[in-house]
Amino acid sequence: MLAFNEPMYTEKGIGYITEAILQNRRLNGDGPFTEKCTKWFEERYKKKVLLTTSCTHALEMASLLADIQPGDEVIMPSYTFVSTADAFVLRGAKIKFVDIRKDTMNIDEKLIENAITEKTKVIAPVHYAGVGCEMDTIMEIAKKYDLFVIEDAAQGMMASYKGKPLGTIGDFGTYSFHETKNYTMGEGGLILINNEKYKERGEIIREKGTNRAKFFRGEVDKYSWVDVGSSYLPSEMNAAYLLPQLEIAEKINNRRLKLWELYYNELKELEESGRIELPYIPKECHHNAHMFYIKTQNLKERTKLIQYLYNNHIKAVFHYVPLHTSNAGKKYGEFVGEDKNTTRESERLVRLPMFYALKEEEVNFVVQAVKNFYLK
Ligand SMILES: Cc1ncc(COP(=O)(O)O)c(C=O)c1O
Repeated sequence: MLAFNEPMYTEKGIGYITEAILQNRRLNGDGPFTEKCTKWFEERYKKKVLLTTSCTHALEMASLLADIQPGDEVIMPSYTFVSTADAFVLRGAKIKFVDIRKDTMNIDEKLIENAITEKTKVIAPVHYAGVGCEMDTIMEIAKKYDLFVIEDAAQGMMASYKGKPLGTIGDFGTYSFHETKNYTMGEGGLILINNEKYKERGEIIREKGTNRAKFFRGEVDKYSWVDVGSSYLPSEMNAAYLLPQLEIAEKINNRRLKLWELYYNELKELEESGRIELPYIPKECHHNAHMFYIKTQNLKERTKLIQYLYNNHIKAVFHYVPLHTSNAGKKYGEFVGEDKNTTRESERLVRLPMFYALKEEEVNFVVQAVKNFYLK
């Protein structure tokens, strides 16, 4: 069976983990490997970066930093992972779901203003498949109504909008290093604190509400409990696994883009004949080939295609079930306006195998199976 995903692996990752255990003898958070990973991002982005235990936790940190209070409202697409919403719901917020664009599956920026009320505090755009949302428009709206922008860039590392890395545009941005992502540490993530004002509080929240980071820098002579917080820092073993992937970040990105292009070019004829739809990349965006998806005509056809591929030893998968249709989504949120695209487009989408170690012949094998499904 051709897997849908294989976690990113480097031999050096094993070496670095061994080094953390046997040489550094340092396994808890914020040791030399965490520092090297953090430096990699900070040098590149010129922003404050904190490695976290997951993107979910990075979003929870952003929610705490934005000081979300019960009754505050957060605007986001319904077509997203549960964590985008849960991070705010945990603080008592109400979620206002807005329809997505059919072309990118991202929040429809033209519908955001209509969902704003007196209680709105945050806009949380999600960069689906590492393709940027229309950030200029979103930032303008946020400025006009004095709202936070928290970018869920779980899938967005190495991708950009108008030359700006995803996650660095709003007040806060979050990445995931879960094993399904382009760069992984098993479970992990990071928060980008783009708004300088929140740098210190970010460090405190991540370290159980203490000023331990300041203490380690020698800025205070003892550390103590100064604010709310939790334990959001990953172990050194996780950071050691991630570091070698950062060292070859461009190589990984280029390889994935090559595989993506191969899928795209080979499946174009099926799009041209109106059988399927292929992903759309706006000209403002550089994507990172996080996923390759196609859209079938409808749910029935998608179910048949997934089964057909499975019978042909290929694991293809669908993606998010819109949050507003779930029990918790109904309890903690509501859809504003008409659901023109969210349900329909999510039901049509199929993700094909995509991972760094995937071979060209395997892509061709998948392409041929999809063509057989449609043309025979
Ligand atoms: C858009 C989005 N946000 C958040 C997450 C959560 O990431 P993590 O598993 O690192 O908590 C995911 C996971 O796939 C995601 O797709």
